[in-house]
Amino acid sequence: MLAVSHLYKKYADFAAVNDVSFSVGKQEILSIVGPSGAGKSTLLHLVGALDKPDAGSVLIAGVDILKLPSKKQARFRNSNIGFVFQFHHLLPEFTALENVCMPLWINGTQKKDAASQAGAMLEIVGLGGRLENKPSELSGGEQQRVAIARALVTRPSVVMADEPTGNLDSANAAAVHDLFLHLRKTTGQTFIMITHNDALAAMTDRTLTMRDGKIVEEKINN
Ligand SMILES: Nc1ncnc2c1ncn2[C@@H]1O[C@H](COP(=O)(O)OP(=O)(O)O)[C@@H](O)[C@H]1O
Ligand SMILES: [Mg+2]
Repeated sequence: MLAVSHLYKKYADFAAVNDVSFSVGKQEILSIVGPSGAGKSTLLHLVGALDKPDAGSVLIAGVDILKLPSKKQARFRNSNIGFVFQFHHLLPEFTALENVCMPLWINGTQKKDAASQAGAMLEIVGLGGRLENKPSELSGGEQQRVAIARALVTRPSVVMADEPTGNLDSANAAAVHDLFLHLRKTTGQTFIMITHNDALAAMTDRTLTMRDGKIVEEKINN
């Protein structure tokens, strides 16, 4: 589904990502762990084409995404990749439903269809009753679930999450992980998730450990 090969990213004379290669299968949940500063976020940004590497390639569903011209790349990203960040970046003046509609509006989906797809996704993340609430009227865990619904509503084939549960208490964090495991089964999506939480990493299919810009360990979980 996704193949990363020989990725490098340098800042001044220091390599934040130093010759990283890995692949992820369809319907696989891969976790990436490692100390702060190891290069995890930089790597995920490169893999999602949010940032440009100095060398290397990223194939998603056979498409060499870093070689696409920028407009095509943005379109590919919007329809094939969903991002979830630690800080959810919801738009405060929009309701939960409108926040989740946003990527569909950008895609050119009709307003009515967007609303029904976004409503269905909010239902899946357990927020069917909070469609009209603004982010400030939701708890941290609920806001993060809105951000997840927004990342998933276009049914991207790959979901990339950077410490999606980093700001949540353990009950909400476990609920988000359960949701990913459930979605992988029902929608066949591929997940790449950075986490600090070893127990949560152990629930994924495979864990890569990063240190000093390199993958230093690969562990298959059961
Ligand atoms: N824009 C940048 N300019 C310079 N250095 C950066 C930049 N972004 C990240 N770094 C450095 O790259 C290293 C890896 O950072 P990051 O990928 O955020 O690590 P992690 O997510 O594993 O904590 C760190 O040493 C960080 O300071
Ligand atoms: Mg990080």
